[in-house]
Amino acid sequence: MAELSGKRIVLGVTGGVAAYKAAELVRLLIKADVVVDVVLTAAGAHFVGPATFQALTGQPVWSDLWDARAPGGMAHIDLTRGADLVLIAPASADFLAKLAHGQADDLLSTLCLARACPLLVAPAMNRQMWEQAPTRRNARQLMADGVALLGPAGGLQACGEVGPGRMLEAGELFDELVAFLQPKILAGRSVLLTAGPTFEAIDPVRGLTNSSSGKMGFALARACHEAGAAVTLISGPVALSTPSGVNRIDVVSAAGMREAVLRELPGQELFISVAAVADYRPAEPRPGKIKKDGRAMTLELVANPDILAEVAALPEPPFCVGFAAESQNLADYAETKRRAKKLPLVVGNLVQDGLGGDVNSVTLFDALGAHPLPTAPKLDVARRIVAHIAAMLPPR
Ligand code: C5P
Repeated sequence: MAELSGKRIVLGVTGGVAAYKAAELVRLLIKADVVVDVVLTAAGAHFVGPATFQALTGQPVWSDLWDARAPGGMAHIDLTRGADLVLIAPASADFLAKLAHGQADDLLSTLCLARACPLLVAPAMNRQMWEQAPTRRNARQLMADGVALLGPAGGLQACGEVGPGRMLEAGELFDELVAFLQPKILAGRSVLLTAGPTFEAIDPVRGLTNSSSGKMGFALARACHEAGAAVTLISGPVALSTPSGVNRIDVVSAAGMREAVLRELPGQELFISVAAVADYRPAEPRPGKIKKDGRAMTLELVANPDILAEVAALPEPPFCVGFAAESQNLADYAETKRRAKKLPLVVGNLVQDGLGGDVNSVTLFDALGAHPLPTAPKLDVARRIVAHIAAMLPPR
């Protein structure tokens, strides 16, 4: 992951069994070329000792406010100067309470107060502790103070109980850090996206759809959120979880998607139409399940409205981005589509291998010509598309 290369992160580890995940996170960060300074609280050291973190980071581990190794004897100041962020993982209920009240009675709490960089916390505790009023209050206070809360997740806990309070996995925390450090090139902008297929009913149990997975649209929604935008995602039927911070609206048919788009559109500055909207729907969906009688059957189809074309033709349209999935002549078809629908930007891709993969190979078409992007995982492609869009947007 080149995104984190050269970053400096201070990782605070407080007392919780999830500390073992912090060791795994350090391994991922070191592999990504991040400089990691680990600060262990006394309770944290009960779960994973300093030797483990020292071996993984290749750096001394810090625990003591009075550590004589710090230049000038001020570890609480020196450690965060030049750091890109401080992450506390796991963050215990006790440590959240300390942070919320500005207490500073050990090295980690003192450096959090003395820091000049963003603070992120990954809570980890028993579900009852997480749900108690004081912890809820502290979490709210921390958010109000500008601290980013990562998780917690729900599920089976180390204590055997099931509920919210489980720390995010190391890979999830890594992804959150990458997201947090993305340039905020869409800060203050609002974005509406569509994603996934639509499902056009034939009868109550059957319908017409396509193989769109929704992955590209969801990746774009996530990339827009990471870039600082307020994001609304209108999704057809997909089996994907909602990217954090994204407002998701589920629809089924093209007509439902059109209605949701027109309802959500006022005030949106950007409309990114990624959905593979069905071009046709059965003319008269049957109210009851069709019985088979062994004979051939004819289904009459009527055209669906083109949502993107309708939005782009409004008197004051948002900045519209279309997608063109073609099986041949990509440049010709995509550019023709861009002009026909009057779009500033079309993202084109060849789909000989079908839809639904995890990587994508796209070319961007705008008034200046064709801009091929490298083949990459969909989230990387999405971030590049967002960068291109941000550069095209009129200044505010
Ligand atoms: O013309 P074509 O269907 O290939 O255009 C694809 C683009 O138009 C995509 O951005 C897709 O989301 C959008 N579209 C739409 N409504 C339709 C069909 C396509 O918004 N009924």
